[in-house]
Amino acid sequence: MSQKVTKPITLALSKGRIFDETLPLLKAAGIEVLQDPEKSRKLILQTSKADVRIIIVRATDVPTYVEYGAADLGIAGKDVLIEHAATHPGALYQPIDLQIAQCRLCVAVPKGFDYEAAVRQGARLRVATKYVSAAREHFARKGVYVDLIKLYGSMELAPLIGLADAIVDLVSTGNTLKANDLVAVEDIMPISSRLIVNRAALKTRRAELQPLLDVFEQAG
Ligand code: ATP
Ligand code: PRP
Repeated sequence: MSQKVTKPITLALSKGRIFDETLPLLKAAGIEVLQDPEKSRKLILQTSKADVRIIIVRATDVPTYVEYGAADLGIAGKDVLIEHAATHPGALYQPIDLQIAQCRLCVAVPKGFDYEAAVRQGARLRVATKYVSAAREHFARKGVYVDLIKLYGSMELAPLIGLADAIVDLVSTGNTLKANDLVAVEDIMPISSRLIVNRAALKTRRAELQPLLDVFEQAG
């Protein structure tokens, strides 16, 4: 008699803070991850539950894996979700704010740069950021003209080296800004990570997903 092979539930996570902060949530559900992504080069990690596996992808790729159903679930920062939604509106179901990986999206400038005066005078600011959609929306709401320069990391360098007047970046302790003689001049929004779910899986695998959704619901 042929046995029906069911695909394990696949949860997409990024290495580092999201993986680290998700582990205790999984543990509370009795799910142990059997490999450490910091030590192993493996990208598919087994868990103590045969029907649940973890895939390790870049933070910015988590929404893509979930949208196309390669993963049923994922955990991604609001920053990443806003940028993804700009080109893929409504593609993901986002039921739960897990309150992990908390930080703020801010505008920052070099110490001594009079941001308020520049804005008042209607100067056209050059702003470097990885978060182009969130930044565009923020400055449009304020009625400030900006030229946005897309970067993929180390935004703090841009104003120090003459690439931009200001940056839009994530701030948590403020240590990175401080180390680079920058100051936050505007809070755009608080950021935390959310559970995201593939829309088709939500319908076709609801019964299998529900226990995990319940666990994350309790954590959120
Ligand atoms: P990628 O590798 O795709 O470029 P990344 O380097 O931003 O992404 P992480 O640094 O692991 O990936 O950040 C993952 C998420 O954690 C971010 O999307 C954000 O929501 C949150 N985050 C980023 N920096 C901080 C921080 N300093 N403190 C708390 N949470 C943060
Ligand atoms: C994030 C962000 C800032 C830093 C802010 O970088 O891009 O550079 O954290 O945190 P702080 O206010 O506590 O200093 P991250 O540590 O994720 O490095 P990465 O962007 O190179 O992954």
